[in-house]
Amino acid sequence: MNTITFAIESSCDETSTAVLSNGNVISNVVSSQYFHKKYGGIVPELASRAHVQLIDEIAMRCLDDSGLTRKDISLVAATMGPGLIGSLLVGYNYAKGFALSLGLPFIGIDHIESHLYSCFIGKEEIEFPFIALVVSGGHTILFLAESYSSYKVLGITHDDAAGEAYDKVAKMLGLEYPGGPLIDKLAQTGDPGFHKFPKSNIKGKPYDFSFSGIKTSVLYYLKKNFSEDISQLPLNDIAASFQAAVTGSLIEKTIKAAKDHNIKIIAVSGGVSANSGLRDGFREYEKKGYRIYFPEKIYSTDNAAMIGFNAFLKFSHGSISQTEKAILQNAYARFSYGKSN
Ligand code: KG4
Ligand code: ZN
Repeated sequence: MNTITFAIESSCDETSTAVLSNGNVISNVVSSQYFHKKYGGIVPELASRAHVQLIDEIAMRCLDDSGLTRKDISLVAATMGPGLIGSLLVGYNYAKGFALSLGLPFIGIDHIESHLYSCFIGKEEIEFPFIALVVSGGHTILFLAESYSSYKVLGITHDDAAGEAYDKVAKMLGLEYPGGPLIDKLAQTGDPGFHKFPKSNIKGKPYDFSFSGIKTSVLYYLKKNFSEDISQLPLNDIAASFQAAVTGSLIEKTIKAAKDHNIKIIAVSGGVSANSGLRDGFREYEKKGYRIYFPEKIYSTDNAAMIGFNAFLKFSHGSISQTEKAILQNAYARFSYGKSN
């Protein structure tokens, strides 16, 4: 019998639910809270209120889209962290209530681990070990993934996450939040060699990142050259130069980690993995024998499909912690007789 997973993601500004059958996505509904644009960034309290207003509608629409009913579901999963606490609580408690009312097992899922596996949604199998770069608005982490339950953190950012740097530089250039996709679009018609912004380097820590230096250097560059007439900004050239510095250091450090560990499989995920410069840069290494995995673009930014996929992996590969096992067994024992519609 197929495992039907109903999954919820609400860790930040996306309210999302998904239905998966044995890890294959049947439906995935994502609603982004665009109203944060006018504040120039996410307002946590407003984000959680918006989740409360939308979660039930999104969940029901997703179930409808899947063509299945509540009776078909075998497992409920929700993001348990990291993320904005108020936003997390909405999705997590909705999912727990949903599971409880149907007598279904519930599992809390890690958001970053789910990004990491999003590269493999729809793929036949996952081969270990691989190097994983998770690069989003909140995190920039380089992992050595050894098995379903064993990851080593090789490197991490010392300050801003790469996506955060994109959003802050976009703001300096007068662009809306989230600025990552807008800078990416401008960069495609710009000259990456227009100005050399510094790449992130931390002495003695070859796999660690720092993006605040690049961000500050864009600020000084703008102040020095365009303080008089900001309308003269060559936006696309600045965007392309900034993008070259950020993606260059992400790629260099990831490839160094792969070389040092003698690994040829690389998985790049998280919101910034949608970036065209990053994708093109990594693709160059395919010619050198590397296997590079990216999520489909819809699974790069936050979505519930990746949460459901990760939950299914935990089920099918037994990589559930003792605590999670105890919770699930308890749920099965209490509710296996009382499955209702
Ligand atoms: O993974 P995600 O949806 O949320 C977090 O877990 O943080 O990532 C959102 C981040 C934002 O900073 C956004 O600007 C960035 O991903 N982003 C991009 C692109 N698309 C989204 N950054 C660069 N290029 C893109 N195409
Ligand atoms: Zn994310």
